[in-house]
Amino acid sequence: MKQKQILLIIGGGIAAYKCLDLIRRLRERGLAVRTVMTRSATEFITPLSVGALTNDRVFTDLFDLNDEREIGHIRLSREADLLVVAPATANLLAKMAGGHADDLASTVLMATDKPVLVAPAMNPRMWLHPATQRNVARLETDGVHLVGPEIGEMAERDEVGPGRLAEVPEIVTAIERLLASQDTPPGGSRIDALNKLLSSSGTGLEASLAGRHVLVTSGPTHEPIDPVRYIANRSSGKQGHAIAKAALRLGARVTLVTGPVSLPDPPGLTTIHVETAREMLDAVQKSLPCDIGIFAAAVADWRPAAVPNKKIKKKGEAERTLRLIENPDILATIAGSKSKRPTLVVGFAAETANVVEYARKKHKTKRADWIVANDVSTENGIFGGDYNSVHLVMGKRVEDWPRMSKEEVADRLMASAAKHLARITSGAE
Ligand code: C5P
Repeated sequence: MKQKQILLIIGGGIAAYKCLDLIRRLRERGLAVRTVMTRSATEFITPLSVGALTNDRVFTDLFDLNDEREIGHIRLSREADLLVVAPATANLLAKMAGGHADDLASTVLMATDKPVLVAPAMNPRMWLHPATQRNVARLETDGVHLVGPEIGEMAERDEVGPGRLAEVPEIVTAIERLLASQDTPPGGSRIDALNKLLSSSGTGLEASLAGRHVLVTSGPTHEPIDPVRYIANRSSGKQGHAIAKAALRLGARVTLVTGPVSLPDPPGLTTIHVETAREMLDAVQKSLPCDIGIFAAAVADWRPAAVPNKKIKKKGEAERTLRLIENPDILATIAGSKSKRPTLVVGFAAETANVVEYARKKHKTKRADWIVANDVSTENGIFGGDYNSVHLVMGKRVEDWPRMSKEEVADRLMASAAKHLARITSGAE
């Protein structure tokens, strides 16, 4: 097998010295390491020691004629299997997020079509600065991978906080994981593979959502019983959040309306937090119009009829009845809306038996265009788990998808939705 090559871009930070160890660990694993150093990196460690460890020349200057003639920045980035930026300084992250190309490191990063992993390292205040956080969110949206930073002591005295370069073994693991994931689907990203699959089967339309608004509901709802108690369910929000991120990757403007979950807000989209079904309906209605509405939230069907504003006290009774009343059905309300119905309405059906049969019923009663049906019987571990096995009910037609990760379900669903929308808009359907 061809030896894998890492292009390590060393930024100018105090943590640059750790790259020497990183290079040794990568070479121990049989990887070839080529390096680019920014001008300020050479103030912290010398190209001489870096070159001795890589057993290759070190590239520092964009306008070194020899470099351009012999190898050039395009070849430098294309010949690598993975680009790693460590330490990624605040300045380097800002340049990457802004698309600057004013030295060799930033030009190589702009010219590459290979995956990029960044390992940020900086002072905690610089890391927490809104500009850095904005840049990192932008880079994540662009598909750049991140390892660290860690929380800990800084080189500066008395400074503690997030901003330490991830430990070398952690960076090595992230590199190995990315290289391994490249081996699985040959030829490009999951989206490229999906696009190929979809366009080979028909009109050749691209699965792009540029210029579209996609609205996604996610997570459970909490229905209060009194100020301290509530009714909830086991939804983790993983599938809904993955769908929102997949829509974003296809270029859509995305609104994510989520119940209480322990997931971070995905960068690059608008997240609205709600607790109850009625708040969720209100947030969804306020976010319309949209082109695609995906209703992945596990909305509570009922809520306590009366919610006292003081905690309900035990009075020694052996039994207590909680009276419940029906919640609004968000999916059915939006799918039945005359003025603001999204062009494509997708609902979910989580069932523990007769999955497709119930989904077919839901398809009709809720007037959804598609229903994603999944079997959530406990032995499948779908609630809270990372995998899903679904059937896509599109009226009479049903597609049975193999078991795959929730990210893959999200990518495949959004690629199908994008293509469907493109077909409708072009008048093909
Ligand atoms: O709970 P049920 O199985 O009926 O959910 C099916 C679909 O309906 C899901 O897409 C869910 O998000 C949606 N739903 C809703 N509002 C409700 C109940 C369910 O939007 N009150």
